[in-house]
Amino acid sequence: MRTNNFLGRNWIDAEYDFTKEEWETLIDVALYLKRKYALNEDHSYLLKNKTLFMIFYNQSLRTRTTFTAGINQLGGFAQVLDPGKIYTPAIKGEEEAYSTERVSDVARVLSRVGDAIAIRMYGPPAQWIYGKANSYIKEFAKWADVPIINMECDKFHPTQALADMITIKEKFGNFKGKKIVMSWAYSGSVEKPISVPQSVILSATKMGMDVVLAHPKGLELDSEVLQKCKKFSKETGGSFEISNSMKNAFEDADIVYPKSWGAMNYFAQIDENGKKIKDENLKDMNKLFEANKHWICDEKKMKLIDKNGIYMHCLPADRDMEVTDAVIDGPQSVVFDEAENRLHAQKAIMAMIMGGRM
Ligand code: CP
Repeated sequence: MRTNNFLGRNWIDAEYDFTKEEWETLIDVALYLKRKYALNEDHSYLLKNKTLFMIFYNQSLRTRTTFTAGINQLGGFAQVLDPGKIYTPAIKGEEEAYSTERVSDVARVLSRVGDAIAIRMYGPPAQWIYGKANSYIKEFAKWADVPIINMECDKFHPTQALADMITIKEKFGNFKGKKIVMSWAYSGSVEKPISVPQSVILSATKMGMDVVLAHPKGLELDSEVLQKCKKFSKETGGSFEISNSMKNAFEDADIVYPKSWGAMNYFAQIDENGKKIKDENLKDMNKLFEANKHWICDEKKMKLIDKNGIYMHCLPADRDMEVTDAVIDGPQSVVFDEAENRLHAQKAIMAMIMGGRM
């Protein structure tokens, strides 16, 4: 691999577009930057005077703060652009006079004045139409001539996945032979994207882990993503299975990652011409969730996993629904390591795609 094969690239469908070797490089760079940060060694020359624009169509604590702190530590500057305070970037057909601005124009303006554009969009801004938010981000990429960073869309949350792989590497030293269970868990809120579980199973199969996806019937993920997981596990010598039992899946796991997500079958749908063919079905989604309230990660289920096993969650967690306090605040929980590693993961991504050497 050349010294830096990353310069100028977009980080959007990163689980598809970046190779295993490239993910490993990013993990190495992140851990290198983490050591520098811990030793208070200056690394602010890496992105000196570079500007990152961040557009958040949704709320955020971790992503917003870690990107801001990260670019500051690398010597650059972050500007948050909240839709509503700027002319909301919109695509053709969804524009409102003097309230929105076409994505193609926003992308070209920001490319003239800064060095990367990061976007978060899922759910309501894309009317819960699966794939629409991902296409919005790709519309920015079509027009921008600076890298575009996906800060979570309706399909993927690749910066979260990279932080999670860093956390696993820190805890276990390697990926091979480690069993990770990405499990659905109950929540009182049904409107949740499927981006985190999809990014976790894709990145874990890419790294060669033994991956089990567990969920009740009716909470399947995107079949295209499942096919990719099978392909990755074949290439890397890992494994990929699907289970409909949280308890069976947890048996002897090294890592459990119980997290709620919405039911794809009940999301809104459009046809190939963009015409809505199905509304979101909240009533049936609620029924499905309420029938599976027992999918909670508690101390009893944690006894099933390996004695050195860990509990992961991207946060925010729905306590007493997805997980009990005893587990998330207990000795096997690594959730704050994951949150911290968002900082180091994103610094590595920014340093490699916005700076560095060819
Ligand atoms: N995990 C995560 O993306 O957190 P935020 O929604 O707070 O950014």
